[in-house]
Amino acid sequence: LGGFLSASSGMPAVAAAPASKTPLTVLYGTESGNSEALAAQTVKAAKKKGFKAVLKNMADCQPADLEKVENLLVIVSTWGEGDPPEAAEEFYKSLMESEADFSKVKFSVCALGDTSYERFCETGKQVDARLEKLGGQRIAPRVDCDVDYEELSDQWVEAAFKALAPEPVAAAPVAFAAPAVAGVEYGKKKPFPSELLDKVLLNGEGSMKETWHYEFSLEGSGLVYQPGDALAVVAKNAPDMVEGILSAAKLTGNEEVVLKGGETKVLADALREDLEITVLSKAILKKLLAVAPSDKLQALLGDESKEELKSYLWGRWIADAVRDFAPNGLKADELVSIFRKMPPRLYSIASSPLAHPDEVHLTIASVRYEFDGQPRKGVASTYLADLVEKGGEVELFVQPNKNFRLPASDETPIIMVGPGTGVAPFRSFVEHRGESGSNGGSWLIFGDQRYSYDFLYQLEWQDHLASGALSKLDVAFSRDQPEKVYVQDKMREKAAELYQWLQKGAHFYVCGDASRMAHDVHEALLDIVEQEGGMSSEEATEYVAQLKKEKRYQRDVY
Ligand code: 2AM
Repeated sequence: LGGFLSASSGMPAVAAAPASKTPLTVLYGTESGNSEALAAQTVKAAKKKGFKAVLKNMADCQPADLEKVENLLVIVSTWGEGDPPEAAEEFYKSLMESEADFSKVKFSVCALGDTSYERFCETGKQVDARLEKLGGQRIAPRVDCDVDYEELSDQWVEAAFKALAPEPVAAAPVAFAAPAVAGVEYGKKKPFPSELLDKVLLNGEGSMKETWHYEFSLEGSGLVYQPGDALAVVAKNAPDMVEGILSAAKLTGNEEVVLKGGETKVLADALREDLEITVLSKAILKKLLAVAPSDKLQALLGDESKEELKSYLWGRWIADAVRDFAPNGLKADELVSIFRKMPPRLYSIASSPLAHPDEVHLTIASVRYEFDGQPRKGVASTYLADLVEKGGEVELFVQPNKNFRLPASDETPIIMVGPGTGVAPFRSFVEHRGESGSNGGSWLIFGDQRYSYDFLYQLEWQDHLASGALSKLDVAFSRDQPEKVYVQDKMREKAAELYQWLQKGAHFYVCGDASRMAHDVHEALLDIVEQEGGMSSEEATEYVAQLKKEKRYQRDVY
């Protein structure tokens, strides 16, 4: 958050201390930690400015708690297809149904999101509209930030502070002082150049999957993590991706360009290292229209039903759109203007720092598919699979995830449902419990396509079963028999035991596919509780909601 913390943010310096401090609540809803980090920074900066600022997590409050808050800044992210963050879901739902009176509340919303999704910043938009509907007074316009949010969120913070305290309340010159060690610490602003220590293909020959195990060195980085955290990888584009966009734009790559931050670079290098040049979205098409007017593109973007746009976006890359709508090519600076900065990719960490000091491991399936008869691939997964060899360097940083944590006590049983690469954080959990000698009980339910090729980390699980770090393992290989068998089927098979574990206080974790698996597992959980607990479906829903509230039901789904 360099800009945010820099002394040059243009805030007025004022001398007089206020008689009483202006109260300010900064409320956040976070999934991967960005909203939380930004909210914490905002509180810190607000305190420096003389506000009496407090930080609040949507996970821990109700809309009615906020009626008496005078000044409210909301920072909330949107996840996947327009959803609120997992931990903010309850708050969000209550707010949408709430009749709370916000007429005494001054507010402003900073929405975080990702323009490559259709319902960009949807949660922030809804929260903003709802607060107004409930009588709140919007004191600064909402901002909708893309993945590189810092610049816009800084502006929002400044505007909000100004609006809330027209008479500056700061007692001392407002230096949004950088932390003492800024520039030294590795993190989001300065990713750590890590050595790839090892890479192993986890699937056997004949598998339809390509899942890799990667081991990175953290030696000398100062980076620390806990089981449940994510690792952010800063990827680079493959040469054929760079070639593709250059040929579509009819450029050589030797042109010089100036990037957003002011840096001058040779185009081909900028395309390889700095910019996201493949992932197509409506936002990108709009930027393309701005530099290359086209009736065809205008019509596509204006399409009311959005069906045509949706089908156009499916499977295409930016190079396809440039070819379709700017057939004469683009100038180098025009081309650069349509891209956003390459966003880091987050992966659930697959190792325990106790089991592998100074290392961090990932489990990543390479994304490869075909479009229009041509091979296509995901950016970061194939960067690691194809372009980085053992001994090579990868830039990374840790993104903490407080919403996915082992129980405080080693004696608490855990149930882990993780098909495919969803098993990653559970390797971390089980290793961690192995190192700390836990005997609380750990039950893993794993699934994948075939036993012979896709049993990720099979030998390790057997060792953990032998040592007791893992006490129970169930597997669902979906394609080893005519009928599909999934993790939720295994749960139902073991319904009585699963309910007993819950009754003993077990925590229930789910990681992996959000589009269907997580939903189906949720339904299975509800059914099991209803059936085994002899409850009505309302009671079962309440039981599971209570698990969530107690943070005994946690999900890391993507
Ligand atoms: P399938 O691809 O054979 O249908 C990891 O990808 C495993 O998750 C695979 O075995 C996959 O099965 C399975 N899977 C697919 N859809 C699922 C769902 N809705 N619920 C649970 N598992 C699912």
